Amino acid sequence: MGRSSFSVQSYYPEQTRQLLEYIEASGKNGPFQLVGFGEDMKWLCRILGEHVSGIYDWRESFQGYDIGNLFVQRLSSYTRREGILIICPPELELVEEALRQVIFSPTLCTMPVIWNTPYAYDPCLQETWARSICEKAAARAPSVNSSDRLFNLMQAVRETTRLSGDIVECGTFEGGTASLIWETLQYQNDSRKLFLFDSFQGLPTPRLGVDAHWGGTFSNISFAEIRQRFADCAGVKLIDGNILETIYTVNEPISLAHIDVDTFEAAEAVTRHLWPLLEPGGILLYDDYGFFPNCLPLKIAVDDYFADKQSECLKFFLPSNGIMIRRNDNK
Ligand SMILES: C[S@@+](CC[C@H](N)C(=O)[O-])C[C@H]1O[C@@H](n2cnc3c(N)ncnc32)[C@H](O)[C@@H]1O
Repeated sequence: MGRSSFSVQSYYPEQTRQLLEYIEASGKNGPFQLVGFGEDMKWLCRILGEHVSGIYDWRESFQGYDIGNLFVQRLSSYTRREGILIICPPELELVEEALRQVIFSPTLCTMPVIWNTPYAYDPCLQETWARSICEKAAARAPSVNSSDRLFNLMQAVRETTRLSGDIVECGTFEGGTASLIWETLQYQNDSRKLFLFDSFQGLPTPRLGVDAHWGGTFSNISFAEIRQRFADCAGVKLIDGNILETIYTVNEPISLAHIDVDTFEAAEAVTRHLWPLLEPGGILLYDDYGFFPNCLPLKIAVDDYFADKQSECLKFFLPSNGIMIRRNDNK
């Protein structure tokens, strides 16, 4: 197939266009083995014409489908190792599954492969367990947090599941991240209790000048509404009031604290109280660490408290503007 055999037209679907560009760049003339039944396979079949020698799918439901005079065959039945494999669908999950089929097939694994996906990896959408948790959590309460931060939080809940201490959230606002923690606990049949600290009526007037600009923010919530949202969640306890005073009501060992308070003074006070309560292997997960300029004072609170604790913990900066601090395990 020469370069003149097909030209990439602007009305082709985006995935088809992209794959054709990769095919052209590869300099290969076929024969092309198309993998993954769907719209893009149909387009490619028509455009590449006689240079397509077979169409394949690994999924049972598409066996025997036809495009003109070509019929979908089982991918595992392809044994000739001729030409080049083109993975047609754009969906990340499908591309991933097709690649898995190719990588682990003794026949296909040495063949050249072309694929594309326009989607970035977003585990909250693409990991089945995470997606189901996120959907349930969002139905209960919205979150102001981005999906990479939500995923970090779910991982922290899962990573600490073997511990027995309860979970604390400082800064709950409308309950979005609290709802995510609770749904993650349900997902793994985890009976840890969840304590939620907030004024539930807006950030109390800060005592420090560097925090002054936060005063009164997050006041567009109602305690009654939050209480209603978590009414059916066994093991969830709402503690309303200024965290600087209420945090001392936790006195038992904890396994995880999600700290999302924005100010220096609240971050400093909760860290000082919660770190000694944290079990070995437990995690403090700070939101907004590294979120500048507003949360620079919060970073100072965390850095200064842990400056002399290098040997007691792992500090893991999260590029999604957070930091995870894990107390070393005794083992
Ligand atoms: C960024 S919001 C929390 C968002 C929530 N974690 C989410 O993603 O869904 C910060 C919360 O911290 C609370 N907060 C900060 N300092 C506080 C304090 N000293 N006392 C009580 N609540 C405080 C605010 O009222 C606000 O609701």
